[in-house]
This record gives sequence, structure tokens and C-alpha cells, in this order.
Amino acid sequence: MTKPTIRKAVFPVAGLGTRFLPATKAMPKEMLTVVDRPVIQHVVDEARDAGIEHFIFVTGRNKGVIEDHFDSMYELEHTLEQRGKTTELSRLREDLPGAGQTSFTRQQAPLGLGHAVWCAREIVGNEPFALLLPDMLHFDKPPCLGEMIDAYNQSGGNHIAVAPVSEDQTHQYGIVGVEDASAKVSQIHAMVEKPAPGTAPSNLYITGRYILQPEIFDLLENQETGAGGEIQLTDAMIKLQSDLDQSFHAVRFDGQIYDCGSKVGFLTANIAYALAREDLADDVRAQIASLL
Ligand code: G1P
Repeated sequence: MTKPTIRKAVFPVAGLGTRFLPATKAMPKEMLTVVDRPVIQHVVDEARDAGIEHFIFVTGRNKGVIEDHFDSMYELEHTLEQRGKTTELSRLREDLPGAGQTSFTRQQAPLGLGHAVWCAREIVGNEPFALLLPDMLHFDKPPCLGEMIDAYNQSGGNHIAVAPVSEDQTHQYGIVGVEDASAKVSQIHAMVEKPAPGTAPSNLYITGRYILQPEIFDLLENQETGAGGEIQLTDAMIKLQSDLDQSFHAVRFDGQIYDCGSKVGFLTANIAYALAREDLADDVRAQIASLL
């Protein structure tokens, strides 16, 4: 049976970004730049490369600039055109999602990731969708979501990207237990959000890329608070698997992941992305060498 195409992606961008104050006092953390592209642009790029056609942002107060970023800017384009800056202009236009391909909705209270995803239910509707957590930059080719969609096209169901983490960090993440930890794609038999130290079912953590079936929304609607007093997506996924008998697969991501919600992760991402750029790599390498 053919599986419904994954056309829509949800980006929860309502978080306050308190770890980056004062930089994020008046600017959303998702607009901090990794080299010359905002973090959110890198994640939207990943989704576009994977074939996503509709980009759904769950925003909050003070996030209006994200909406502006994904809109055309007539005055700027006009000025670039007049000055003959054709390269800059065509790059701006390439980055822009098409008319009608973006939607913005608001999470009105910070009740957790599960609640943020639930806020997108009317826009997603009754079809499977992708979910990308913008803090987590998945670096390297092939792109993570693209690999997940390939796996989904084989088996259908729900898919979660995972990667290994050291045992002393498992309590910071959602952790999954899988049938075959060495396989690229494996059935998930256990999921737990932020397990107490020493109780994790494996060392594979949920890296922030998901393909989910729409039944998750009804479960989220009635989901009670979990770890950290928040409505947890992982708790609703556990019910989707156990109560509704849906399949969950882990797709192991083999590239580098930079957590741009942390200062060290964000700074490292800037260095790694700069070193991957032909126009910057040599100069950046020389500057790092002189600093060290
Ligand atoms: C969320 C998810 C968690 C996942 C993590 C990845 O947690 O709930 O399962 O491992 O993102 O960054 P948060 O970072 O919002 O606490």
C-alpha cells in the first residue's frame, strides 16, 4: 500500500531562550546566526531538501521577526536589484518558501513540547507530518530528515531520529530502546523521557527529528504533565505505540549534531559550519590556530 507523502513540517519556536540572555532579550533564539544563516533557516533548509512543501511554525510572543524572515522584503530586494547585487538577490529568493507555503500559529503558554506540537493540529490536519526541533542542528549529508522520509516510505508508521549519547547524559533527553542497536533503522520497543540516572533503556537519545502519525494530536489533547511538569511529546508517543498499536522506528543519524540551545553547542556549530565553507575554511582555520 502506498504511504501518504510527508508534505508538512512543524517547527516549535516558542521557547524563551533564557540561556542566551541578553542576546535573546529582543531577538528570538532561533534567529541567532550560524555563520550567516539563522539557526531556523538551517533547519528549514533540511526540511526543504527532504521535500517538505509546507512549513508550520509554532511561535510565541516576540517571535514576529521569524515570520518576517520567511517573507519577501520588497524594499531590500529593490535596492539590491538597483545596485546590481544579483548574487545576493538570487540567494535571498532561493531561500524563500513559496507563497502560501508557510503557516504561523501561537503557543499561548509555555506548557511543554507536547503542547507546542498540539497547537499545530488544525494546520497539519489528518496526515502524517515531520517535526523538527530547531535547537538541534543535524550537520552532514545525507540530511537527517531525508533519510527518515526514505525509511518511512519503506515501512510507514512513526519514525524518530536517534544517536548515541554518553551514559551520564541520558537523563537530559528522551531515550529509546531498540531491537537492533547496530542497525540503521530498527523497531523501537521502549521510550522514556528524561530517565533517572542509571535507568535508561539504552544510550540512544531522541535527537529532535520525528515523523509522526496524526493520531498523536488526540493523545496530546488529553496528555497529563510529565517530566519537568510539562506536557511531554514522548509520553503521547508511548501511548500511540502501546494503546493504538502503532509502529515506531528509530533511524540512526550518523552525522554531527550541535545543540544550539547550549552556548558550547552553538559556538561549535559556528566553527564547524564555517570550516565546511570553501570561502571561509582557510581563514577560519588560521585564526583558530593563532588563538590556540
Ligand atoms: C526534547 C524532547 C527530548 C529530546 C530533546 C532533544 O527535550 O522532549 O525527547 O531528546 O528535545 O533536544 P527538551 O530539549 O525540550 O527538554
